[in-house]
Amino acid sequence: MDDIFSLKKLFLEESQSVTSISELQQLRIRYLGKKGLVTSKLKTLSSISPELRPEFGKAVNEVKSFIDDDLKKIEDRLKEEEHKKRILSETIDITLPGKFVSFGREHPINKVLYEIVNIFLSMGFEVEEGPEVELDYYNFEALNIPKDHPARDMQDTFYISDDVILRTHTSPVQIRVMEKRNPPLKVIAPGKVYRCDADISHTPMFHQVEGFMVDTDIAFSDLKGVLELFIHSFFSVETPVRFRPSYFPFTEPSAEIDIGCNFCSGKGCRVCKNTGWLEILGAGMIHPKVFEMVGYDTELYTGFAFGMGVERLTMLKYSIDDIRLFFENDIRFLRQF
Ligand code: DAH
Repeated sequence: MDDIFSLKKLFLEESQSVTSISELQQLRIRYLGKKGLVTSKLKTLSSISPELRPEFGKAVNEVKSFIDDDLKKIEDRLKEEEHKKRILSETIDITLPGKFVSFGREHPINKVLYEIVNIFLSMGFEVEEGPEVELDYYNFEALNIPKDHPARDMQDTFYISDDVILRTHTSPVQIRVMEKRNPPLKVIAPGKVYRCDADISHTPMFHQVEGFMVDTDIAFSDLKGVLELFIHSFFSVETPVRFRPSYFPFTEPSAEIDIGCNFCSGKGCRVCKNTGWLEILGAGMIHPKVFEMVGYDTELYTGFAFGMGVERLTMLKYSIDDIRLFFENDIRFLRQF
């Protein structure tokens, strides 16, 4: 009997130093396992004299259930402690500053491109697109640009092969559309164009919006009305507009369209080279030779065409003096639009 009580004492001592579930597991095996200290005491029961056996058995069982209960209590306590530790280690300090995610935004060129397109959509124009890798035929020949024209110069045009180039303007879309469709046509063609050129107002790739209208009785006054409405929507209704005679191989007559300089209000400054005017568009009545190239009856149809540079319009609208800013992707610049 003394043995049994000292077993309980031993257990109480040993259980003091348990600090983890695995140690507790070891302790359980040591006392209650198949070969454990308590279990082996129970096995000695048969060697005990019958009169002492009940008392002995009872004492062993009491110690056994005491140890069992105590192990459970210790287990609960350890689990609780581990849980608390885990919660503490997983604590999020909500006073720390958050991680900054910088958002992208629409590029000013795309923003202005969509603005231009929307103004023409509101006037009933449709949008068509053409390839950026273009045939010499569509880019030059069908537009009545002769072999010796300066625009064909190797310095301006990126050649892929003798017949294949990167388009230098969006005008070839006129030909591609007229080849497959008959008038009436009211089309704009936005897109990228390429020229071997780079300085503060030129980049090797830039954007243009081409426009044209063909029907049985299109006059120069229609061109004037459409472009004036466009300019007044895009800039402001007060913006002065001027049509100045010019030359393009694919239009006759041709014009360049100027707006009153918005940097100096027409007084004359560095930007407008003291003229008070800024050139923003090329335009004209479609040349009969162009109609012949696509098989249109030149007696029946007339039309106008125009082309504008999106970078240039964006620079004028937002007073930007260096075209390269559009392609540096400095988020501080892009955020301003
Ligand atoms: N394609 C010309 C250029 O890139 C711009 C242009 C001028 C387009 C007159 C036209 C036009 O449609 O009629 O410089």
